[in-house]
This record gives sequence, C-alpha cells and structure tokens, in this order.
Amino acid sequence: MFKKLFFVLAIIIISSSILSAQVPGNFKNLKVLPKNIQKNDLTNIMKGFTAALGVRCSFCHVGEEGKPLDTYDFASDEKTSKQKARIMLNMTRDINSQYLSKLSEFSNHIEKVECVTCHRGAKEPKSLDDIMLGVIKRKGVEYLVKSIPLTSILSPCLSKALEEITVSTSPSPKSFVST
Ligand code: HEC
Ligand code: HEC
Repeated sequence: MFKKLFFVLAIIIISSSILSAQVPGNFKNLKVLPKNIQKNDLTNIMKGFTAALGVRCSFCHVGEEGKPLDTYDFASDEKTSKQKARIMLNMTRDINSQYLSKLSEFSNHIEKVECVTCHRGAKEPKSLDDIMLGVIKRKGVEYLVKSIPLTSILSPCLSKALEEITVSTSPSPKSFVST
C-alpha cells in the first residue's frame, strides 16, 4: 500500500520536474504576472490553468502537441486564447482585490476566486444543463438521447424542460426514457 503510494508520488514529482526542466527560465513577455517570478511558481500557475480549463499548454501557446516543451514559443501572443487568458488574469485579480476583499470587513473567512471557480475543468464555463440544451438546439433531442444515459445525470429542472420539448416535437413523448 505504502509502496504504491510512494510510486505514485515519485511519478508526480518526476513528471512535474520534467515539465519544469523543459520550460525556458527567462521570461520575455510577462504583462500581468510579476516579471521576476520564479520558474517553479510560473510553471505551477500554468499547470493550474491547464487543469482549470481542461486543456493542454498548446491551447494558449504556439507549439506542436507531443513535441518537447522547449520547442514551444511561450512568449508569442499569437493565440487569442492566450490574450483572453490575460484578461481573465486581470479580472480574477480584480474580483479578489476590489470586491471580495471588501467582504472581509464583515467576515474573517473569505474564499478566493480562481480560474477553476468558474471554469471547473472546461474552456467555456457553462453549466451542464446549458451545454445539453445547446446540443439539443443544434442537433436535436434524439442525438442527445443516443449519446448520453439521460436519466442518470439530468437535474430535475432540465428533465422538465426536456419533457416539454419532447412532448411538443415527438409523437411518443416517453420514448426517450425507455430507449
Ligand atoms: C489558458 C491559457 C494558458 C495555458 C493553458 C497555458 N498558459 Fe502559459 N501563459 C499564459 C499567459 C496569459 C501568459 C502570459 C502571462 C503574462 O502576460 O503575465 C503565459 C506565459 C507563459 C510563459 C512565459 C513566456 C514568456 O517568455 O513571457 C511560459 C514559459 C508558459 N506560459 C508556459 C506554459 C506551460 C508550460 C503551459 C502548460 C503546462 C502553459 N503555459 C499553459 C496562458 C496560458
Ligand atoms: C468569474 C468567472 C471566471 C473566472 C474566475 C475565470 N473565467 Fe475565464 N471565462 C469566463 C467566461 C464567462 C468566459 C467566456 C466563455 C465564452 O466565450 O462563452 C471565459 C473565457 C475564458 C477563455 C476563452 C476560452 C475560449 O474558448 O476561447 C480563457 C482562455 C479563459 N477564460 C481563461 C481563464 C483563466 C486562465 C482564468 C484564471 C486566471 C479564468 N479564465 C478565470 C469566466 C471566468
């Protein structure tokens, strides 16, 4: 048991130091983060971005997936997602410093807003209900029914909305539950 845990921990430590080793140390184009930020701190922030949005480095940076990170052009601002991420960094900082900080006058325990607070692992921070209603609008209820086991994941609110849509569009409204 401990052996297994040690093994897993060792892999995590080794893989994060490989990542850190492949990232260039002198940063040329920081406009929001402190220019003298330590490489480890920057790497951890970037890893946080990938986890919060469910993406890889290449979502924001110019580089080829699968190639070593030292072939990437991290300083380039070519990708709009990187430019958007800068706006998001400023926005998140402002939410914390200008708004949430004011609540501390009333409460000692203030949660900080982070990328993951809104994004929760997705590029577009939408609720599951919104995503599914989008699929229904674009591809129809039948497509959604075939692709996901509906009854297991629907919130009561969306179930009701879906029932109404099915009643108005399908001759046998209950069929999506049994198939
Ligand atoms: C959601 C977008 C996003 C993702 C994903 C992302 N980054 Fe970044 N990265 C940025 C932004 C924005 C900056 C610039 C920050 C600033 O201007 O202060 C940046 C800057 C950098 C820099 C500094 C470049 C320079 O010379 O100025 C490095 C190195 C870097 N990222 C590495 C990575 C690595 C490695 C990954 C994957 C583990 C990654 N990034 C994932 C958005 C992202
Ligand atoms: C208060 C909620 C909130 C927080 C906090 C937040 N975001 Fe966002 N983010 C959004 C919304 C809303 C959008 C717009 C999604 C759309 O285009 O429909 C968005 C869009 C983005 C996009 C563009 C995605 C695309 O598909 O082009 C990127 C990149 C991004 N956010 C990165 C970040 C990063 C990095 C952080 C943390 C520094 C962050 N966000 C924090 C709400 C948030």
